[in-house]
Amino acid sequence: MTQDELKQAVARAAFEYVASKLENDTILGIGTGSTANLFIAELGKIKHDVSGTVASSEESARRLRALNIPVYNLNSVDRVDMYVDGADEANEYLHLIKGGGAALTREKIIAAVSDEFICIADESKLVPILGKFPLPVEVIPMARSYVARQIVKLGGDPVYREGCVTDNGNHILDIYNMQIVNPRELEQQLNQITGVVTNGLFAVRGADRLILGTITGIKTYLP
Ligand code: 5RP
Repeated sequence: MTQDELKQAVARAAFEYVASKLENDTILGIGTGSTANLFIAELGKIKHDVSGTVASSEESARRLRALNIPVYNLNSVDRVDMYVDGADEANEYLHLIKGGGAALTREKIIAAVSDEFICIADESKLVPILGKFPLPVEVIPMARSYVARQIVKLGGDPVYREGCVTDNGNHILDIYNMQIVNPRELEQQLNQITGVVTNGLFAVRGADRLILGTITGIKTYLP
């Protein structure tokens, strides 16, 4: 099976899980990226049963609206029942690196609000130690060089993601060459740097369920 076929299989498995728990007033959080896009396409099959969504990017919101699925501003809902999103890396504790698609801040906000965060990925994303994938950090543009110098002090090699402006009008630094042995600690250390908006470690609030598409079938991991 190709990576795209594994993503398709996992999107369908997540859809079946979500559909089995759907109630009249369920609000779904929808992530960003190629795996999330496949989940959105699956959701189109039952669009009349989806009472509302919140989206982690303008791109995902556009895709949902194109299917006539209602998209709400997060401030106008009082809860999010389930949030489905991909990841760039995941470990067995369901700590994640996210933000390859530059949507990390809105993703982290929706994850924080959600009752259940369901991460969907193909098996290439499961790693023993996070950090091979460069860790994205969203920064206020004027603070970029300062934040980069602070990241070097933490032992990372930050690289400015040229030409990338987030949905929030900010910039991204990708941190290379960090073996992240303590994801919670690093997540909090990065958040302490003035000028950092968010970092792509999802460890303080990791996933509640990881659905992985593997060559031998769907595997579900719980923390
Ligand atoms: C976007 C993300 C995505 O979830 C992550 O990049 C995975 O993307 P894909 O499903 O295309 O592999 O964090 O900011």
